[in-house]
Amino acid sequence: MYVLGIETSCDETAVAIYHAEKGLISHILYSQASAHSEYGGVVPELASRDHIRKLTPLIRQTMQDSGVKAKDIGGIAYTAGPGLMGALLVGAATARSLAWAWRIPAVAVHHMEGHLLAPMLEEDSPEFPFVALLISGGHTLLIEVGGIGQYRLLGESLDDAAGEAFDKTAKLLGLAYPGGPELARLAGQGREGRFHFPRPMTDRPGLDFSFSGLKTFALNTIQQHVVCDQDRADVAIAFQRAMADTLSIKCKRALQQTGLKTLVVAGGVSANQMIRSKLLEMSAEQGAQVFFPRPEFCTDNGAMIAYAGCQRLLAGQTQNLEIFARPRWPIDELVGTEIA
Ligand code: KG4
Ligand code: ZN
Repeated sequence: MYVLGIETSCDETAVAIYHAEKGLISHILYSQASAHSEYGGVVPELASRDHIRKLTPLIRQTMQDSGVKAKDIGGIAYTAGPGLMGALLVGAATARSLAWAWRIPAVAVHHMEGHLLAPMLEEDSPEFPFVALLISGGHTLLIEVGGIGQYRLLGESLDDAAGEAFDKTAKLLGLAYPGGPELARLAGQGREGRFHFPRPMTDRPGLDFSFSGLKTFALNTIQQHVVCDQDRADVAIAFQRAMADTLSIKCKRALQQTGLKTLVVAGGVSANQMIRSKLLEMSAEQGAQVFFPRPEFCTDNGAMIAYAGCQRLLAGQTQNLEIFARPRWPIDELVGTEIA
């Protein structure tokens, strides 16, 4: 069965075709980043309008590139939340309409479940159960994963998400939106040890995170010490090191607490090389294995939605014709939709 995947939850319009046995057939992504960068963040109305402009041509192109015809597609998967309401509605309405016209089922996919399952697109993929660290622009979650739909929340951010902390700190450093990758580039020129940022909430038990203090710490450091480009790079590397250490300390704790030996790390921030190296090092010390998606599938993409939707379609989990979109949608509310 071929499944068409559609992702429009934020500022990427992405489409993919996944086949239940053959795997990923094709995927295309259009990033709106340049449209939003002059505003320093995503403007929801601009995002919805751009999705409307781009989505249908992208679906056509994905089908043309792959040679897959409408009659061969057995189901459609679309991101139903969490995300921006207007942006989600574009994907949801398009997916539902196509499914109705083609007389095939459509399935609403949880965006963070898409991220969580993205490493399954790789040849060397993890086996359940595992601990998942999801680090994106809107969420920071530690989850014990028993299988698809079997999620127990272990910890989450009490304030800013990891990606949000990267973006806000990048902005303070004068970098363009989206700041995460820009900050990582600048950190490449930085000198370790010049500044030392706190590792928030690591000195007390528990698996929750708090990142808003890092941004304030960055602001104070910049105001007191930064005069040249080298200073900015030194702040960037210190911030990134604090982020990597904090995530690593919490993941280690989650592995120890659950007794699991597999860690999955996904979401936009998992593309960060320093964070990947730190988590690889920690996992090796713990005798655990760590899995990441390839960098292009760390950030938003259609392939992860097509994959997640395919698994749910194969399990017969389709919905009625309602156009379902939910801007706020806690992942543990998927309990009850387990795939046996
Ligand atoms: O998962 P994602 O593409 O979208 C959401 O679901 O939010 O994550 C986007 C976030 C942004 O905050 C972006 O700055 C961050 O991921 N990001 C990075 C890197 N690449 C993307 N942060 C740090 N280092 C990177 N290399
Ligand atoms: Zn995402």
